[in-house]
Amino acid sequence: DKLRLDPPEFTVKNYACQRRTPLKHNNTHLTHALELLAESAAFGENEGRSVAFTRAASVLKTLPRSVQRIEELRGLPCLGEHSLRVIKEILEYGASQEVESTRQSEQYQAMKALTGIFGVGVKTADRWYREGVRRPSDLMDSEQKLNQAQQAGLQHYKDLNTCVSKAEADAIGVIVDQAVQAVLPGAQITLTGGFRRGKESGHDVDFLITHPEEGKEEGLMPKVVNWLDTQGLLLYQKTTRNSYLESKDGPARPPSNMDRFERCFSIFKLESQSCSPPEREKSHQWKAVRVDLVVSPFSQFAFAVLGWTGSKLFERDLRRYAGQVKNMSLNSHSLFDSHQRCFLRATSEEEIFSLLGLEYIPACDRNA
Ligand code: CTP
Ligand code: MN
Ligand code: MN
Ligand code: MN
Repeated sequence: DKLRLDPPEFTVKNYACQRRTPLKHNNTHLTHALELLAESAAFGENEGRSVAFTRAASVLKTLPRSVQRIEELRGLPCLGEHSLRVIKEILEYGASQEVESTRQSEQYQAMKALTGIFGVGVKTADRWYREGVRRPSDLMDSEQKLNQAQQAGLQHYKDLNTCVSKAEADAIGVIVDQAVQAVLPGAQITLTGGFRRGKESGHDVDFLITHPEEGKEEGLMPKVVNWLDTQGLLLYQKTTRNSYLESKDGPARPPSNMDRFERCFSIFKLESQSCSPPEREKSHQWKAVRVDLVVSPFSQFAFAVLGWTGSKLFERDLRRYAGQVKNMSLNSHSLFDSHQRCFLRATSEEEIFSLLGLEYIPACDRNA
């Protein structure tokens, strides 16, 4: 067994927040397959299985070159038996039967199409599927009751399933900045989410808003939304007020992915950018774009930026690492040291990584 005595080909750290994951990597044929299985598991509401496939894909994204043989993966973390079997099949035969049959399945395709409607989660999509709904168009003339978000989602289905370009994200940024400056001069906006990680396209545009004078940001969102609405720039919006102050449960509460900032999930009406491209002239002169706005007090800003930059797996592992390795509790508001029983302050992402004993990972390498 000479092979077993060879040192491992690659070394990869356990938690996604301990390693660099660039946007472009060398194993997309493998990661796309594993991510499809992760998506399918999520459609079946099997979160554990979904995260396992997502983690396996994420490990492959950090490898410096394309995997040729399954033996090269020896010793790597997060690669379970099932993931390894799928990888091996793809390396040997060019495709995995399980992945291809899942991709072709009626259930996967229907769930993909239905969860692609803004406002529709897995639970709703699954219920509709069991009632015979297969495509968004099946909902148009059906008895199904749709809430306002879902109605907007259905109405703008095509636009919202067309990628948002970086240029479009920047154009939205100009508008959001205008709105914010109009209602609170000196406020600052930061592009977060996938675009901050260097993505060239995304499914939405995420912004974080703050003001250097603590307290000035209070009640800002309704004013911003009202300004945008008055200009006719909003097709849909749902604002949720800050729930941090009135909630009694401290940082020791059960982990929840939801933060408690004042936020707005919206759909912008973005006038076309370039000098009227022909495909736009045929239909309308604007595009519906999903935009997420979040307002953070200045004292929590570093935690908010870190929490809203993603990726989702990177965030999940940051929190898991904080809890499991450092006995700390991290969320988008704060970092709590359970041993010292105190909150640790930070004014930059670098400081937060340092408090966690982690090497700083820049946003462009958080594409886990
Ligand atoms: N997020 C969050 N709470 C939510 C929704 C999102 O904290 N209710 C955070 C996620 O953890 C992520 C960031 O917001 O870090 C961006 O989420 P999202 O826009 O869904 O994903 P992106 O990474 O931006 O990818 P995409 O290009 O698909 O938008
Ligand atoms: Mn996003
Ligand atoms: Mn997303
Ligand atoms: Mn978002």
